[in-house]
Amino acid sequence: MAQHGSESYFVVGEGLLSDSGAGRAVATAAAAPPFRFSRMGPKGTGRQLGEPNRRKLGQLMTGGGGETSKIPAGFTYLGQFIDHDLTFDKTNVMLGTTVSPTALLQGRSPSLDLDSLYGAGPQDPQSAKFYEADGMHLKVGETIAADGVPKKAGFDLPRGAGSSAAAKRRAIVPDPRNDENLAVAQTHLAMIRFHNRVLDSLPGSVPPAQRFAQARELVTKHYQWMVRTDYLPRICRKSAVDSVFNSGRKVFEVGAVPTAVPTMPVEFSVAGFRLGHSMIRASYNWNAIFDGGSGSLELLFTFSAAGGNLGGGERLPSNWIADFRRLYDFREAGRANLAVPASKFNFAKGLDTRLVDPLANLPAKSFGGSAIPSGDPRRNLAFRNLTRAKMVRLATGQQMATFMNAKGVSFPKLTKAQVRDGKGGVELGTLTQAQRAALLKDTPLWFYILREAELNGGKLRGVGARIVAETLHRAIEGSQASIVRDPAWRPTLGPNSTTFRMVDLLLFAFEGKKSLLAPVG
Ligand code: HEM
Repeated sequence: MAQHGSESYFVVGEGLLSDSGAGRAVATAAAAPPFRFSRMGPKGTGRQLGEPNRRKLGQLMTGGGGETSKIPAGFTYLGQFIDHDLTFDKTNVMLGTTVSPTALLQGRSPSLDLDSLYGAGPQDPQSAKFYEADGMHLKVGETIAADGVPKKAGFDLPRGAGSSAAAKRRAIVPDPRNDENLAVAQTHLAMIRFHNRVLDSLPGSVPPAQRFAQARELVTKHYQWMVRTDYLPRICRKSAVDSVFNSGRKVFEVGAVPTAVPTMPVEFSVAGFRLGHSMIRASYNWNAIFDGGSGSLELLFTFSAAGGNLGGGERLPSNWIADFRRLYDFREAGRANLAVPASKFNFAKGLDTRLVDPLANLPAKSFGGSAIPSGDPRRNLAFRNLTRAKMVRLATGQQMATFMNAKGVSFPKLTKAQVRDGKGGVELGTLTQAQRAALLKDTPLWFYILREAELNGGKLRGVGARIVAETLHRAIEGSQASIVRDPAWRPTLGPNSTTFRMVDLLLFAFEGKKSLLAPVG
């Protein structure tokens, strides 16, 4: 998957679902399936919105506006990084002929184990290129001097392989999607640095043969802890997250053997976790040079190699290095000296039914659609999300609410008036009466979940909270290193044995230094 979004979905038990329609049976899991999806709830056959309705709704949703949240904007792109970790097909970076059926099955299954960072590990011939010659440290790249900021080693993703300019530009990381915009690329870089620092901090007594494996396990478990205790409660009602993690799952792969390889529910991939699209801002106070909103989303695409062309050069110009203090609030970790004035800080857009307008016309490179002309609805992210739902015959919001309540998760279903009116979200006035009636009766899951969040002060609840928390719980449970399967494990790299947040991860990765967290200011 070089870009976002599968063009076809192999759903366990149903076969390959694609634009061309019906499920095509694929003989065995090991034969060819690109990635193992499943269905959490019922099928939404006959309940999908027609194309004119999806077009109009897509347009309305990407009309801009909407509230700004209290969630620091870095969490938007942490979410994108998490999504890529979950949906990464590791077999893309493994040597085809030597992959065993078990490895194939595992590689094409979702887990929260950072394979998007580690690939198939330093011993795998195809993944060795992500590592330094010592076979333990992950490679970092160097920026190019720009705007009076000198070149800096360790502030860009590693690049430079191949002979053409485009090949040299490409990031040498397992998942090229993590170079689709600069914010996710710098998040990936922070994770590389985190691994390298953890490795360097292991006691000298750990034998060389065990150092990589020990570092990887520590990194993965700290990352999972952060996702569970910091990321999830920011986007989901806390009681829903606690219920899933403390009392177990009720709707997804209930009773699965914990070590069995998980699947990815289409309800999460096509609707639930696309919540992040509503958090994206049109512009950022990126750093001291691209300040005052001049770090536009468009420029964040340009200064990446998968969404743009790094501005024409072969590496990131130094003037674009992130200022993490503007994306995360280090006062949470008692580091007031790493806080920027409030006017410089970036909060994510609120979780609601409104998306910023640049998402109405995505850069074609970001989804592999170069042949699709500007202005075509297929470049509209909301239209794409709604259309994917039709392709996989996704259950509607109402179907999922009924299904979950029957499984013992009790919460109120949204009323038609709530779906229609929301709270500060998109207004449906320009839909025809028939279109509106269809939407209120059979609400596309993604829209329903965003309406739920909008009515809940910007946090997922009900259907949305359950889909997201249960899928992430299962993905952590099924990972090779797993805090769910090792409940006595506690973080050791944060301020105490119960706390490890994204700010703690960044402080560790960048040695707590302003000169590394924000070299441009
Ligand atoms: C500027 C940032 C982003 C852009 C341009 C972007 C764009 C896209 C595109 C084009 C697709 C494929 C649509 C399709 O054809 O089905 C997609 C899929 C998806 N996006 Fe995003 N996205 C961004 C950020 C995020 C964030 C922040 C999250 C979550 C927190 C997220 C979650 C997902 C998920 C779950 C999918 C489906 C699975 C996958 O292909 O990864 N995205 N996105």
